[in-house]
Amino acid sequence: MSLPAMPVFAESFDARITVQADRPGAVIDPNIYGQFVEHLGRGVYEGIWVGPDSTIPNTRGIRNDVVAALRKVRIPLVRWPGGCFAENYHWRDGIGPRAQRVAGVNTAWGDEPESNHFGTHEFMDFIEQIGAQPFISVNVASGSPAEAQAWMQYLTGPASSGPGQERARNGRVEPWKIPFIGVGNETWGCGGNMTAEFYSDVYRQYASVLKPYGALIASDANSDDYAWTDTFLNRALYRHPPQMPTTLAYISKQPQIDMISVHFYTFSGNDWGKKSPAVGFDEDDWARSMERTWKTDDMIARHSAILDRHDPKGQMGISFSEWGAWWATDKNRPSNLYQANTLRDAVIAGLTLNIFQNHAARVRMANLAQMVNVLQALILTDKEKMILTPTYHVFDLYQGHQGATLLPTTVTAPDYSRGGIGMPSISVSASRAANGDVSLSVVNLNPVESAKIEIEIAGQQIRKATGQVITAKDMDARPEFGKADPLEPVKLNPIEMRRNQVSLVAPAKSVIVLTLQ
Ligand code: AHR
Repeated sequence: MSLPAMPVFAESFDARITVQADRPGAVIDPNIYGQFVEHLGRGVYEGIWVGPDSTIPNTRGIRNDVVAALRKVRIPLVRWPGGCFAENYHWRDGIGPRAQRVAGVNTAWGDEPESNHFGTHEFMDFIEQIGAQPFISVNVASGSPAEAQAWMQYLTGPASSGPGQERARNGRVEPWKIPFIGVGNETWGCGGNMTAEFYSDVYRQYASVLKPYGALIASDANSDDYAWTDTFLNRALYRHPPQMPTTLAYISKQPQIDMISVHFYTFSGNDWGKKSPAVGFDEDDWARSMERTWKTDDMIARHSAILDRHDPKGQMGISFSEWGAWWATDKNRPSNLYQANTLRDAVIAGLTLNIFQNHAARVRMANLAQMVNVLQALILTDKEKMILTPTYHVFDLYQGHQGATLLPTTVTAPDYSRGGIGMPSISVSASRAANGDVSLSVVNLNPVESAKIEIEIAGQQIRKATGQVITAKDMDARPEFGKADPLEPVKLNPIEMRRNQVSLVAPAKSVIVLTLQ
């Protein structure tokens, strides 16, 4: 089979990358390739759940094509049921025989109808079908610690317990494991409109009943609200302040927060009210989107610095529980927050994953918003049809980084500038897998110039270099239903090797992953 030719660009710049293979860092937690699924638009209904009577091939109501696609890229983790939806969700509405479940209204998302047909058992079935771990976000705004605790008892209680017996009557004898529990979502906004001080106390109360069940992930600071993180950690990190008298020493001084979360969305520029269209945008929009995505790096560094002060031993992590591109609403969209996914989304995904990987010491989880049919999705569906998006292809190529050991990198390259803003044009991240293979992901976010790149690998002998690239001629190239995918990754050619140095050309607006053996 002949491979599609890579676009060739006249303009180019020189860049140099050094991979410090002799200075291994933290392990890249596979959970940073996690996903976020919310009852919203067609994210759950149609995107995952079609019901057992559907003509769309399914297993117990869950569509087979979506499951197979997610298994292929080894999705490690899914956060559910929201988002803002979680803050209106009462889990008892979604258990028991489906025909008897009372339909509700999705008050978080425009009063869309909510059949409650996808509830706890269906979600856990889905999780098992794709081979991932669950991250359940409990309701803090309109629920209670008692409701959240009862949910965990229902999920994890032994079959001999009352909650376990109820679970068994509903079809599941074996208890499930819930490794991650989110204590509220955007509690500064849809999750209760709280101050950091008030949420700290609410968190303490929830933690006192939820800690035995799983790792606790605190509600996010609103993007760059560093004061929130600092206040929250001051007030809620320990069951009692560490300086408390020793008479209380019997109370654990272990942190009662396993991760703090951060939410941050990319749009073009920094104004929620002026978003770029998903397709048909210009280079200024491209540049502003990339500049905003780069802010993720600084945001993690500054939240990490606060964590370093409160938790110098590095016990706590950051969960980047919502990230991705949020483009302007298209009035012809088939469902709420549905958007086309283009080459720009792939470049944003590559850049963001590189940033997460490079902060692997603190970033231990992340969740793309949202997995199917909502915002920067991996998968889009149109009834029985399915598209794998450019973002999906990036997750596919990045699999070599999952659970590998981060290797430091340095880059020398001219900035990309446009419309008065400038930023690094090349983003890289490298890691070494247990078998010694080095994965190196390189993003050239300059949309008009290719990069002639020399790569030096210090401290490890390399004999073979292969790579794949995602690129196209147009910034908004995208897959469409019923047409050939213009963004399928193709083999990167040529890659030259000389004395442990690799040279290649990274096309303008491309994502490349190399395997160095
Ligand atoms: O992902 C869509 C929404 O964005 C989520 O429900 C909310 O947490 C965030 O504001």
